[in-house]
Amino acid sequence: MPNVPLFIKACLAEPVDRIPVWLMRQAGRYLPEYRKIREKHPFLHVCKTPGLATEVTLQPIERFGMDAAILFSDILLILEAMGVDLVFDEKVGPRLGRTGTVEEQVDSLSIPDPEQELGYVLDAIRQVKSSIQEGVALIGFSGAPFTLATYLIEGGTSRDFYATKCFMYQQPVIFQGLMEKLVSALEPFLKAQVRAGVDALQLFDTWAMILSPADYSEFVLPHMQRLVAGVKDEGVPTIHFSLGTSTLLEEMVQIGAHVLSLDWKIDIGEARSRLGPTRSVQGNLDPFTLFQEAEKLEKRVLENLDKGSPWPGYIFNLGHGVHPKTPVENVERLVEVVHNYPVRQTEQGSQG
Ligand code: CP3
Repeated sequence: MPNVPLFIKACLAEPVDRIPVWLMRQAGRYLPEYRKIREKHPFLHVCKTPGLATEVTLQPIERFGMDAAILFSDILLILEAMGVDLVFDEKVGPRLGRTGTVEEQVDSLSIPDPEQELGYVLDAIRQVKSSIQEGVALIGFSGAPFTLATYLIEGGTSRDFYATKCFMYQQPVIFQGLMEKLVSALEPFLKAQVRAGVDALQLFDTWAMILSPADYSEFVLPHMQRLVAGVKDEGVPTIHFSLGTSTLLEEMVQIGAHVLSLDWKIDIGEARSRLGPTRSVQGNLDPFTLFQEAEKLEKRVLENLDKGSPWPGYIFNLGHGVHPKTPVENVERLVEVVHNYPVRQTEQGSQG
């Protein structure tokens, strides 16, 4: 029986003797060793060079000893593989190119063969797996169809998502067709990541927060259900990430992912009571907590641990990515506090 990583046990709500921890964007600009690589290579070049992507993926594991690594890549790369121009502008962030109308673009999107068009992602997974420490899980990921659709329609990030919402309401059939097409591209990509070696899959739905429960149920939920059901047979846990969506928790449960990643706007104890003892959660410290002095940071981490861990199925994380200006020593302290936390979980979920 191979050793099941602690992180995977927590995803599956199995008992653990220590709370696993990793942080979104744990490989990034707050780390001097990452900045050193970025001085020499543009972001997309790092993503597309398996040796560099592997090195960067493992940097935070080597420095802090997290329980999971997330592959260094980006959710927007699949859109490039589908035929959309992608550039990362240092100042404005990602820009996606389009000629013609959204309808024409939806038509022209291709369904990539992951081994052919995203082979660099799969090669990076294989390389990470060959050098990662035993017991440390590797997380693969993709954007969720809705968040990818917003980037495609807006051409980048947006303040009010005017174009996305107008398109969704005015062209619902084409919008649903776009979501279906994205699912058809994402499913083989996620399966290929599992076959290349990832131990879990995280789906990033950063912009789901802009939808009402009714619109979420109509335009997003069925596609998420199809995607999660489609990758289920690969046998690895799935994690659903979103932000500002505590008003949608009950809808999000219906996606069928093993783990819900929560942001800091909901009390994690309340989220666990609402979701029940069998649904695993990940989160949910405010990334800016890491800018406080050590004692206050420690207090917040311990409060989160107390509230999140009355029963199995809890992964410590931030509610969103590590900010690029985060002091490195505070990340180190955070991981230490989580690792030293004594677990007092009960199987039934009574908080006693
Ligand atoms: O978490 C990790 O460490 C794994 C790698 C990862 C990145 N992006 C690397 C990255 C993951 C999982 C993502 C997901 C991603 N990318 C999301 C969903 C999660 C979220 O943050 O809400 C989104 C919306 C994107 C799109 C994206 N990529 C934007 C808007 C930007 C620019 C803003 C920014 O943070 O710089 C990126 C660039 C990006 N992706 C960087 C990294 C490390 C910064 C690149 C650099 O300057 O070195």
